[in-house]
Amino acid sequence: MKPFIDTLEHALQCCITKSEIYLEQIKPEIREYISRPDGQYLQGKQEDYIPLRHIFAWTPSFFLGMGFWTYQVKKETKWLKWLHSFSNEYAAKVCHTPLETMHDLGFLYSPYAVALYKATNDSHMKKIALQAAVVLAMRFVPNGSYIQAWGRMDHIIPGYVDQELAKNHFFTQSKGLAIIDCMMNLPLLFWASEETNHPFYKNIAVAHADITLKYFFREDGSIYHAFRFHEETGQPIGGDNYCGYAIESHWARGTAWAIYGFISAFSYTGYERYLNAAVDLSLQFIAKSEDDGIPVWDFKLPQHQPAAACGSKPWTDWDYTNPANKSRNRDTSAAAIAASAFYEILKFKKEPAIQCAMDHILMTLATKYTNYEPPIPGILKEQNGQGVYTIFGDYFYMEALCKKLYGFESIW
Ligand code: GLY
Repeated sequence: MKPFIDTLEHALQCCITKSEIYLEQIKPEIREYISRPDGQYLQGKQEDYIPLRHIFAWTPSFFLGMGFWTYQVKKETKWLKWLHSFSNEYAAKVCHTPLETMHDLGFLYSPYAVALYKATNDSHMKKIALQAAVVLAMRFVPNGSYIQAWGRMDHIIPGYVDQELAKNHFFTQSKGLAIIDCMMNLPLLFWASEETNHPFYKNIAVAHADITLKYFFREDGSIYHAFRFHEETGQPIGGDNYCGYAIESHWARGTAWAIYGFISAFSYTGYERYLNAAVDLSLQFIAKSEDDGIPVWDFKLPQHQPAAACGSKPWTDWDYTNPANKSRNRDTSAAAIAASAFYEILKFKKEPAIQCAMDHILMTLATKYTNYEPPIPGILKEQNGQGVYTIFGDYFYMEALCKKLYGFESIW
């Protein structure tokens, strides 16, 4: 046990050391620092990265979230001071430009405002997070009973979006679309109901989770990335895909979002159907992952095929005949998210396969995929099937390590 814990302690120390880079360099505002093969998220011109207020932003809070977990471990006030320095930006996004948001409000406000409120009882953070929940609730489409994933709810393209960007599927194909990632935005709504003692938010979250159970799951237990409803009637149309390999494939990270979303939904509601969904998806995730516990980017990716996350073409040197190529399609971010979700499942159900998989994933990530070099911000190698570092993978790795080593409560 000791070498295992020592290894995880060492990995967490690495995450803390890298959080210091953000504390030093991310100021005075936070932006969407995109994934990079060299892990140098912050390198490049600031103005090339979209700001938090941009409708596309969904990952900035993972940088701050790493600072939050460092605060939890070290209790140094400099972290709180730094985190609070962004509060006006977060308040402005949901108070002044509420329509210029997508469903990612949970990804943005749970690891920031909700986390800070839960840890420090800060009433200002509570107000910001509650306003984010109001804005997320506005995305609910009663005709169909789902939360619309993308685009503005009035379908106007924001003035700052240029013509080229306006052709993006986030705008052109947003009507009638729900996506599996949204399960991870529901905890913000459940939390808001708990805080306000009002069922409004919870009712929306339950409706969306139930519609996900009804339409996203296939006969074999795998899930769609996306599902379309008729814009006006709300009638179900069928599965769709933007992030995995194909409509009928099985995107690994989407599965991890679903596992985490369903176990959070269970923790707030006690509805067994959510626990069962989380456990069933976990067992599939475990069975379909590689021997080292890490999945390929999409469980149904044909052998030798390069991953092409969200339509991109990252592999310029892909050799279709080389079987070793399969290992280049790993997604350690999916494994990190799943490990953190497994920790939550184990609070309610002591499933040996899930316990074993969580420890296996964390050990593999710590010994095989962690970049321990302090000057490079990126932590987890081999993410997103593209051999890149992403801040969301790094964040969930750190979150899982903190919970495993210190027993901290979930911030979702
Ligand atoms: N939007 C969440 C993801 O790309 O995983």
